[in-house]
Amino acid sequence: MISLTALRAAADQFGTPLYVYDAAELDAALGQVRSAFGEARVYYAVKANPNLSLLRRLHAAGVGFECVSAGEIARAREVGASGDRVLVNGPAKLPGEYAAGARLGATFVVDREEEVGLLPPGSRALVRVNPALAVSTHDHLATGAAGSKFGVTPAQVPGVLRALREAGHTALGLHVHIGSAIRDASDFSAAFARLAGLHPAVGNLEVLDVGGGWGVDADLPGIAREARAAASVFGAGLWVEPGRYLVARAGTLLTRVVGTKRTGRPFVLTDAGMTELLRPMLYGAEHPVTALWQGGPEEVWDVAGPACESGDLLARDVPLPAPVPGGLLAIGEAGAYGASMSSTYLTRPRPAEALWEGGEWKLIRRRETPPDIWAMETGLE
Ligand code: LLP
Repeated sequence: MISLTALRAAADQFGTPLYVYDAAELDAALGQVRSAFGEARVYYAVKANPNLSLLRRLHAAGVGFECVSAGEIARAREVGASGDRVLVNGPAKLPGEYAAGARLGATFVVDREEEVGLLPPGSRALVRVNPALAVSTHDHLATGAAGSKFGVTPAQVPGVLRALREAGHTALGLHVHIGSAIRDASDFSAAFARLAGLHPAVGNLEVLDVGGGWGVDADLPGIAREARAAASVFGAGLWVEPGRYLVARAGTLLTRVVGTKRTGRPFVLTDAGMTELLRPMLYGAEHPVTALWQGGPEEVWDVAGPACESGDLLARDVPLPAPVPGGLLAIGEAGAYGASMSSTYLTRPRPAEALWEGGEWKLIRRRETPPDIWAMETGLE
């Protein structure tokens, strides 16, 4: 836990909006994953938070990387990952992504039948299975439903594995990822059971990759038990791809109160909004909000950002002591898909990021500036 004094000091030193991360929380989350999943190989889903300082720390701890773009592969390479520490995933990989993955000796996750013919010669590959299951999360975050674009159908799996082998690739095993921020452990059991049901058709395999998707308060030991049971059906080693679970709780978005207003509802207006943390607007996500000031009687507020969009809300119905301009709000569980989904909409520079480690702050991304944003614009002469 970072002390309130340290949080205030970071906001004073680096300005707001500011993402702060607690190295101890990151290490603790990795410890929880390792103690639940034992020998499983961990591939961190880079999309959750791609900051190189965080990747470097995870790399040093022996974690591999799940990458879904040339940029993410470049980040993995930048921190020294290669070979069996890199997994290349995605439903529409581009030629440059196969080439970059192959240069690193990465393993590819095949997402459709046609990909067998696109893989670099002699690739190691997993086949992503779409288990056709509805899961308990926001529609945008469900990836294993029948209508989703991901993976191949269970019926296609034996043919894709055979085609991989015939083309001279190594068909390592199967992959499944049913979605993100999943709270209900039974969703995972159902998906893993569907995978295990393929054993009569495909026989033993080297690897079963059960993806990520665990909500921040998921029952990891329970999910791990089910995953191990499915892997043992194939005599396979277990791989996992957590994103959110590893970094969400380590991250906090610090934002300052700009002022208040009362229209139909009471609003606290802040210097962060949809451009810094899109999740509340995009998925109706709820992040814990804590005021770092004291005093005044509590009242219930909506927390809204500065953008000229009605959907630009960080939270609704938050009890807060009487807001003071300049007061700091800490938006919690923001380490995953916070900074990584921030945008420069409205030419708003993306926030700085700082890491709390060993009792001190380290700036791990400087605040962007407007000239940074327009640096790529040409044709003005
Ligand atoms: N593996 C695959 C193949 C994935 O597609 C994802 C996430 C993960 C692993 C990691 O999932 P996690 O453990 O983080 O749930 N922007 C959304 C989340 C999108 C996740 C996309 N895929 C959000 O803000 O909630």
